[in-house]
Amino acid sequence: MVAKFSSISTRKLSKALTVLTRDKSMVATSDYGDFHKMVKRYVMSSMLGTSAQKQFRETRDMMVNKMLRTFHKLVTDDPDAPIVFRDVFKDELFRLSLIQSLGEDVSSVYVDEFGRDISKEEIYNATVTDMMMCAIEVDWRDFFPYLSWVPNRSFETRVFTTEARRSAVMRALIKQQKERILRGEARICYLDFLLAENTLTDEQLVMLVWEALIEAADTTLVTTEWAMYELAKNPEKQERLYQEIREVCGDETVTEEHLPRLPYLNAVFHETLRRHSPVPLIPPRFVHEDTKLAGYDVPAGTEMVINLYGCNMSKEEWDSPEEWAPERFAGGRFEVADMYKTMAFGAGRRACAGSLQAMHIACAAIARFVQGFQWRLREGDEDKVDTVQLTAYKLHPLYVHLHPRGPRM
Ligand code: HEM
Repeated sequence: MVAKFSSISTRKLSKALTVLTRDKSMVATSDYGDFHKMVKRYVMSSMLGTSAQKQFRETRDMMVNKMLRTFHKLVTDDPDAPIVFRDVFKDELFRLSLIQSLGEDVSSVYVDEFGRDISKEEIYNATVTDMMMCAIEVDWRDFFPYLSWVPNRSFETRVFTTEARRSAVMRALIKQQKERILRGEARICYLDFLLAENTLTDEQLVMLVWEALIEAADTTLVTTEWAMYELAKNPEKQERLYQEIREVCGDETVTEEHLPRLPYLNAVFHETLRRHSPVPLIPPRFVHEDTKLAGYDVPAGTEMVINLYGCNMSKEEWDSPEEWAPERFAGGRFEVADMYKTMAFGAGRRACAGSLQAMHIACAAIARFVQGFQWRLREGDEDKVDTVQLTAYKLHPLYVHLHPRGPRM
């Protein structure tokens, strides 16, 4: 992925993904070339790169504060009822995605094609949930390209309808924000940046802003939910993390500034990425020139899917790979660069654009959650490790009992 980069960096998409990504009009699914370079630069400099991330620091802090307040309220209202972690995290993370991408925490929007206002939940479903489900829709014709002339009506109806709904909602959201800009209320966000660049078609604009929305709302939730599941299941590892936080932060609230001084937290993050690889299969690559990979001659035209889950569960690479053991990354046995051995974010020039944001949000949230509460799994949930969807969503959402540790943070 690094050394043979130039021969394996175009994407090969299924029929469903070709429709949903409007034939590669996004950073993640475009072929490597001028368009990809331009839009990756846009997303890094306005939203995801190191200096752009500083602009959203306050929004991230506000997000975690709100999650903690909601946890406290739920515990106070009914101390014995287990809390559905995902409901709390998902709402706040989507709020952050909306603010970063569109400049506003949109609560509803009028969609011309539907002839009515739709709620935030409907926006979430049309732009995130339905798209994730539809992305794994299988068209048997993908496996028999010479039969692609045969109609597959149910598949086509489902994929085209989902795509049309997503695009209608995105157009409405963008229109709403253009009206804001016309009122003289420009904001620091991806949409305002892209409009100022003035190099994209309306369709490209829809796709890029949608991409920012869905990518921010999905994998970080998947990672944090798995980390909290493991910490709730393993009280002694949770205690070790809590003690590290006490030693480094004392009575102060954990902030992103503390993160480099919390090595066990970092180990928890990377071990979660290894044991529960959020993107188990890297989006397919296409070999566009004859090349040699790991000693094998690979001809142009080969499709390539890298199985990160397989790599991360390999007994040759990891001791007891099925065990979630942050210790394997702690105690100075690993260099910082070795953390990336999990390849959770891919590698080479197509590596994930949002890894810094994912790390900021997941690590700060995990630390604040453990600093604020003792976490315990709902009884009987110890072995619920199945996954579903394109990214490694927990099939059974995480239910937890929370016990506040001390004064409210
Ligand atoms: C724990 C969280 C995340 C994981 C595990 C993850 C994983 C990945 C992986 C495996 C790839 C493909 C890399 C390759 O083909 O080599 C990727 C690409 C990408 N990711 Fe992420 N991602 C995460 C969070 C995010 C976030 C928060 C964003 C943006 C808000 C984001 C934006 C992107 C983009 C734009 C690409 C395409 C990069 C390119 O093709 O050049 N990711 N990610």
